[in-house]
Amino acid sequence: MINKQLIFKKRPVGLPSADTWELQSNTIPDLAQGEVLIQQHYISLDPAMRGWMNEGKSYIEPVQIDEVMRAGSVGKVIKTNNHPKFKDGDYVTGWGGVQQYVITNGSNWYKVDPNLASLPQYIGTLGMPGMTAYFGILEVGKIKEGDIVLVSGAAGAVGSIVGQIAKIKGCKVIGIAGGSKKCNYIVDELGFDGAIDYKSENIVEALKRECPKGIDVYFDNVGGEILDAALARLRLHARIVICGAISQYNNKKAVNGPSNYLSLLVNRASMQGMVVLDYAKDYSKAAKEMGGWIAQGKLKSKEDIYDGIENFHETFLRLFSGDKMGKLVLKVIEE
Ligand SMILES: NC(=O)c1ccc[n+]([C@@H]2O[C@H](COP(=O)([O-])OP(=O)(O)OC[C@H]3O[C@@H](n4cnc5c(N)ncnc54)[C@H](OP(=O)(O)O)[C@@H]3O)[C@@H](O)[C@H]2O)c1
Repeated sequence: MINKQLIFKKRPVGLPSADTWELQSNTIPDLAQGEVLIQQHYISLDPAMRGWMNEGKSYIEPVQIDEVMRAGSVGKVIKTNNHPKFKDGDYVTGWGGVQQYVITNGSNWYKVDPNLASLPQYIGTLGMPGMTAYFGILEVGKIKEGDIVLVSGAAGAVGSIVGQIAKIKGCKVIGIAGGSKKCNYIVDELGFDGAIDYKSENIVEALKRECPKGIDVYFDNVGGEILDAALARLRLHARIVICGAISQYNNKKAVNGPSNYLSLLVNRASMQGMVVLDYAKDYSKAAKEMGGWIAQGKLKSKEDIYDGIENFHETFLRLFSGDKMGKLVLKVIEE
């Protein structure tokens, strides 16, 4: 059997070019005792992958040159060699990387039930982005009923769930997204109270319009000028959740920091970074609650699925161009 694998070949500077990776076709070796072979169906494409390509200290080791590109995934066990936990036919999710098959001893892989949610949902709303939204807005943002919540990247995998959870908890929610289609989507379909199109509006003026009384919680997915504008509108004891800074990930120079940070002092506010991996022990509890909200129609989840491991590069770039709706997923199984 042949496994198509995307091998990381060089550390990019700026936006990654296609030759950052090499697509290889390699023979799948035999299973050792206690291993399983997983046929991967869907790969999760995440902005964090850009950070994992950089050398240097971060919250996780960088991907090494000549390794399979790291990625979350979901698929099916198709062969086992005396594995204590998994059997043929089990659906599982884990860190399978950008490849069609993966051999593992099963550590850090979890069974999922395809009857309860679709497989792509297990790497989206019920996977890492959904967990980020859940713990970020509840544990770090500490939202309470009546709070005014602003979220950037609002039509994306994390932001769309953040806004919906804040609505479930009785907050007023304003989303920032690129383009009228995404802005209409978060208001009309997801129930946000307002939207700002940062691509066509002056962000400072639009924030005055949408948040005339200021902001209690800002959930930041993008950094840069939008973070700076949000800082200027904080209310007393506001909380900023630093989840990501996608506007800065492909910078060739230093990250642009916020000049309005003294607003934290004036408003006795806080700005706190979060890494979803810190909440791993509570994922199943969060997934259960979010699964319930999905079943009750309170939480909507949208996946944008592209086909073929050959199309990894152009699909990955959609994270940065914004040319996608919801959670970006790559289907790698060949039928
Ligand atoms: N801290 C953690 O543990 C953790 C975990 C998961 C994700 N994250 C972070 O959360 C953020 C969102 O991740 P996601 O998976 O939900 O991605 P996503 O929002 O589904 O996709 C990225 C979106 O970012 C927007 N974007 C791209 N370039 C931008 C720019 N220059 N300025 C403003 N917006 C821009 C685009 O939407 P528009 O069309 O609206 O521009 C794009 O669709 C990322 O920063 C990611 O690194 C953090």
